[in-house]
Amino acid sequence: MTLATSFLGLQLQSPLLIASGPASHDVNQVALAEEQHIGAIVLKTVCSDKYDHMRYWPRPRYKLLDWDKQISGRSKYFTLYSYEQGYSGTLLDYWDFIRACKDHATVPIVGSIFADIADDWKELALKVQESGADAVELDISSPHRPGSLDFETTFVAAIDAVVKALRIPVLVKLGAGPDVIHQCKAAERCGASAVTLCNRIRGFDVDIETQQPILHGYYAGVGGPWAKYYTFRHVAEAAQSIKIPISATGGATSAEDIIKYVLLGASTVQILSVIMVNGWESIAQIHADLAAYMQRKGIHSLEEIRGKALKTMILPEDIVRWSGEPKTGARNVWKPVDDHGHS
Ligand SMILES: Cc1cc2nc3c(=O)[nH]c(=O)nc-3n(C[C@H](O)[C@H](O)[C@H](O)COP(=O)(O)O)c2cc1C
Repeated sequence: MTLATSFLGLQLQSPLLIASGPASHDVNQVALAEEQHIGAIVLKTVCSDKYDHMRYWPRPRYKLLDWDKQISGRSKYFTLYSYEQGYSGTLLDYWDFIRACKDHATVPIVGSIFADIADDWKELALKVQESGADAVELDISSPHRPGSLDFETTFVAAIDAVVKALRIPVLVKLGAGPDVIHQCKAAERCGASAVTLCNRIRGFDVDIETQQPILHGYYAGVGGPWAKYYTFRHVAEAAQSIKIPISATGGATSAEDIIKYVLLGASTVQILSVIMVNGWESIAQIHADLAAYMQRKGIHSLEEIRGKALKTMILPEDIVRWSGEPKTGARNVWKPVDDHGHS
């Protein structure tokens, strides 16, 4: 039995990846991640110099909402509200950061970038490659990104330019919403190696005592275990719409969540909030529980069950309304789209 998985041509010891964020913002964090036998580490996103203001965060920048440790012990019920933007150092610091990670870490390192015009994306991506990263993730879906940037006019050109310029794999990180499958297909057409689904969404909260917005007074990124349900759906849809692999992210706090993502077609799962809320040791627990599940189910590798749950999805018109049962002769929604483990 093995947790090892191959992804983007890289041999990973685990399908669990550290998602871009504060747990991958400096070499000390990266060392802690590596101790957990993680599959790969996606570094905190660096922004082009045009977005220099995104390097300076208001403090405090996080607030934990809806959290009741009394009920849940290791909390599985929370909302993480945050206004942390890009990597806090300069671009030069970031290239050094990648080099330092590559000097010390044995797991693959994925650089993460954000820019606007295609030339800037390409320039940053090339520097990520030159600094030794094993792959690059394009964070085109940050909840803090300027609203003026449009997928069709800005990001398609950016993905295209980066893919053409690089020899390392390119992941495209997309946000949830009605356009996500269209965007997955566009990323695939541009030659992206994988998509990461789905980034956090932009949310908002107010305090009824002060009658003011909480924290820094503006919209914030929100996520939590509840977010997995819409990402499960997007991953399931994407697995039936594109051939390139999917790295799932959003609300995974347990082995159960990781298994669900795999059953719905994901190749890897990126986690962050569970580490911030419950600590690095969450990863050891997830790994142990994954191994126990695989043993109980007689599974040698998670690749054996990738996309399995999709095969029993049923078309809505074939569901008997009063019982929820499939009609006789019901047609499966499932249609294999590829040869990398979904069929
Ligand atoms: C505080 C915080 C900072 C984040 N920063 C980034 C970032 O810089 N780039 C990025 O692509 N995603 C960022 N994310 C999103 C995470 O990478 C991840 O995709 C998301 O939180 C969903 O996973 P989770 O529910 O396990 O946290 C951030 C998330 C949080 C909570």
